[in-house]
Amino acid sequence: MKVITKVAELRRALADVRNAEKRIGFVPTMGYLHDGHLALISASREHCDVTVVSIFVNPTQFGPNEDLSRYPRDFARDEALCGSAGVSIIFAPSAEEIYPAQFESFVEPGELAKPLCGAFRPGHFRGVATVVCKLFNMVQPDVAYFGQKDFQQCAVIRRMTVDLNLPIEIVTVPTVREPDGLAMSSRNRYLCPEERDRSLAISRGLFAAARAMADFG
Ligand code: PAF
Repeated sequence: MKVITKVAELRRALADVRNAEKRIGFVPTMGYLHDGHLALISASREHCDVTVVSIFVNPTQFGPNEDLSRYPRDFARDEALCGSAGVSIIFAPSAEEIYPAQFESFVEPGELAKPLCGAFRPGHFRGVATVVCKLFNMVQPDVAYFGQKDFQQCAVIRRMTVDLNLPIEIVTVPTVREPDGLAMSSRNRYLCPEERDRSLAISRGLFAAARAMADFG
C-alpha cells in the first residue's frame, strides 16, 4: 500500500493503473475510519482492481462554529486499517495541496442541498461538492463509494456527477450500525452516555417506520 500526499504523485501512480486498463475504485473519507468505511472499501475491493482511499478533513464543509479543529484524527490507526483491508493507495493531502493560496472556484449545488441538513449547515454541501469534485478529478476513478447514512450527501453527489458530466459510477452502500442500532459515525465519540442513549431514537424511529410501511404494503 502506498501513502501519497501530493496530487502529482497520485496522478503518476494512477497513470500506470489506467494504462493497464485496471478498474479504479475510490472511497473518499475524512479519516478516523470505522466499520462503515471498511464496508465501502470492501465493496470497492469486490468490484475494482485498485482501491484508493482519501483521508482529508475538508475545511470548506465545516461552518465557522463547527468541529473542524476537534474533528477526530488518527492517521496511524487509519493506515493500519487500510493496510489490512487491502487498500492500494491512501491519498492524504494537506489543506494547502487541495486549496492553494489563490483558490476561489467552488461547486454550488442547487435545490437538493437546501432542506434537511443543508438548512442547518449553510455552505456545508457546497464544501462537500467542491472537495468531492476536486478529488474525482485527481483520482479519476471508475467507481466511487459512499455510505447511505449520508443520504442527502449521496443525492447531492449523484446530481453533481450527472450535471457536470463526470464519467464516474456512484455506488451507495448500506449503513453499518452498532449492535443497538446506532449508525456508525466518526462523530459518535462526541456523544456522552446520555446523548448516545437518546440518539437511538433515530434508528428506532426509522425501523418502526419501515415496519409500518411493510405492514401497510
Ligand atoms: O462523508 C464524508 O466523510 C465527507 O463528507 C466526504 C465525502 C469525504 C467529503 O469530505
